[in-house]
Amino acid sequence: MEVVENKKEVTEILSFAKHLKLSTRTDHDGVDKMVMASKPFENEANYAKFLTLQHIFHLSVAPLYQQADLQDLFPGLAELPRLSAVKLDLMDLGMKPEVDPAALAKVDDVYEAIGWLYCSEGSNIGAAFLYKETQKLNFDANRGARHLAAHEDGRAPHWRKFVAQLDALKLTESQQASAVKGAIDAFDFYKKTLKMAGLSAS
Ligand code: HEM
Repeated sequence: MEVVENKKEVTEILSFAKHLKLSTRTDHDGVDKMVMASKPFENEANYAKFLTLQHIFHLSVAPLYQQADLQDLFPGLAELPRLSAVKLDLMDLGMKPEVDPAALAKVDDVYEAIGWLYCSEGSNIGAAFLYKETQKLNFDANRGARHLAAHEDGRAPHWRKFVAQLDALKLTESQQASAVKGAIDAFDFYKKTLKMAGLSAS
């Protein structure tokens, strides 16, 4: 019995999705704190800045969802991006979804791209809390907070499917390291953009 439990633990430690999570926990928590410190739901002006940040992030990752090599690794990937929803949210607030191309990230390495996708898809888990907060501003899945709404399958099943796809990848150690680097770069990019969007409390 003990042996089986140990085996279970080892399998968990070796799961690639768990490895990504553990390797980026501090980065995630830093982003979480910075976003909350910027009080994005306090008023519509702050929320507009938050949407601008989300737009730049989703615009940066959007090309990855269209890449054939990544679509092969993650079947169904093309249907996932939330970019069009963010654009509609911006328009709901009377803003133009225009971005200086220099503000966007560019990801060339396919294994680093896996880390960026992890960061982007995972952000939809925490979005459950953010979505609730948007209701204080009277936004919802039909207006202003479309991109934070749950996937039609529900947040958890959708995330479990993505995690299963991550765990099914047969990556070498160095490819896994590239993916972790990509995820950390994605969180760093988010933080840098947050400051540029005038959202930083510091
Ligand atoms: C105030 C903002 C945020 C809050 C409160 C928040 C909160 C959360 C929570 C509660 C989870 C679930 C953790 C768990 O199941 O252990 C989560 C997961 C995640 N979040 Fe966030 N989050 C925020 C912003 C973001 C942003 C901006 C990104 C990406 C740019 C992000 C990326 C992720 C990822 C990748 C995961 C999945 C972790 C995993 O299980 O592997 N989050 N977040």
